[in-house]
Amino acid sequence: MELSDLAKALKQKIENKTAQIGVVGLGYVGLPLAVEKAKAGYTVVGFDVQQKKVDMVNAGINYIGDVVDQELADLVASGRLSATADYGRIKELDAVTICVPTPLDKYQQPDVSYVVNSVTSVAQNLHPGMLVILESTTYPGTTEEVVKPILEDTGLKCGKDFFLAFSPERVDPGNKEYHTKNTPKVVGGVTPECTEVAASLYRHVLEGEVFTVSSPAVAEMEKILENTFRNINIALANEMSVLCRRMGIDVWEVIDAAKTKPYGFMAFYPGPGLGGHCIPIDPFYLTWKARGYDYHTRLIETAGEINNYMPEFVVESISEVLNRDKKPLNGSKVLLLGAAYKKDIDDLRESPVLKIIEHLEKAQADVIYNDPYIPQFDHNGKHYESAELTDELLENIDIAVITTDHSCYDYQKIVDKARAVFDTRNATKGVKLHKENVYKL
Ligand SMILES: NC(=O)c1ccc[n+]([C@@H]2O[C@H](COP(=O)([O-])OP(=O)(O)OC[C@H]3O[C@@H](n4cnc5c(N)ncnc54)[C@H](O)[C@@H]3O)[C@@H](O)[C@H]2O)c1
Repeated sequence: MELSDLAKALKQKIENKTAQIGVVGLGYVGLPLAVEKAKAGYTVVGFDVQQKKVDMVNAGINYIGDVVDQELADLVASGRLSATADYGRIKELDAVTICVPTPLDKYQQPDVSYVVNSVTSVAQNLHPGMLVILESTTYPGTTEEVVKPILEDTGLKCGKDFFLAFSPERVDPGNKEYHTKNTPKVVGGVTPECTEVAASLYRHVLEGEVFTVSSPAVAEMEKILENTFRNINIALANEMSVLCRRMGIDVWEVIDAAKTKPYGFMAFYPGPGLGGHCIPIDPFYLTWKARGYDYHTRLIETAGEINNYMPEFVVESISEVLNRDKKPLNGSKVLLLGAAYKKDIDDLRESPVLKIIEHLEKAQADVIYNDPYIPQFDHNGKHYESAELTDELLENIDIAVITTDHSCYDYQKIVDKARAVFDTRNATKGVKLHKENVYKL
């Protein structure tokens, strides 16, 4: 493909590392990405509306688990990485990546206001030859139907004056093997030239393969497919766990047996419910979009119903365990071990533990929680503080519920000391039982 002069000039800057790059949204996705780009040799400016995050980055202080503290501090000290809340600095940049939140609104519909706001700010500073990449997970069509018109309102033409692509972020916070740098990347530009320059940037920053697709919509849809695949398979595991309980079968043993099949089966596990900013949310972006095409994504809706029921099922199960000791939920001391939605991270967003707390408190249980990653939080106007996990606490509660299987917990001690344990994660697998006090999802 013969590139235009603007595309050639941008590619050259990318190749010789003189391109100046912006990352908009310095959260779980944006900060690691900004660090990788700076580590690859580019000068990177991070943008965030939260002044606190901007100040922390500029002080060389890390706040994201997947980022190495010293690496961030060194990059800031060397001037390679800085942060600002001033969008005017976009003017200095050759490329900008947008990593802002894409939540659901209170009617469970996509809230793309963060995308619209950040793109509008970028547009006010857009200049010829610039590359804009959207990384926020969103419904197919967003890049061309929402982002492109805002950028073209400037009078500049996409594919001719500036380049635009979508590249979904796949980072799995807390994953020790795959992180921003070595996870393969998918890129779909509005024109082949847009794809080419965007892919070129990722190839110079990341180690993972960069796979190009024919349009932003394909890239947007493939990301939703990935997360819907997880959502639906987790729902299947959850449904199996509810049924296995009724049938007196250990669902964890069933899955361990099934996964001995070397092909055609992939293990997914039940749990207390979905959490995080991705798996519970992203499929509903597609559900909403599908309605515009007179299509109802029944599998997604059904999976949502099953997954949403899990926190309630956990509380019903806790009640059953307490019932064996002739105790009602009302007044029982229930210790929740873990508030984060998954192990070894500090992310409370959409955590099913919040719903479990709501159900328990409605039944007037005395709820105590411990999470070494989340020392305190506020929920529904109430303040919660992590209790110290002492032997005395374990001995004095009526039941310990393993809600998050953090690696730092001493499960043997928890099982030995607590009167009863309800394990929603199979974290007690392999623990020696001295009495029959462990119950599993
Ligand atoms: N967290 C994950 O594991 C993960 C994984 C893959 C994809 N994603 C997707 O990536 C996107 C970002 O998610 P995240 O987890 O990093 O969110 P986050 O909340 O951790 O970070 C987003 C950041 O954007 C900032 N922001 C909001 N509006 C802004 C604006 N107008 N200008 C500048 N900054 C602004 C926020 O202050 C925040 O710091 C979402 O679309 C999400 O679905 C997240």
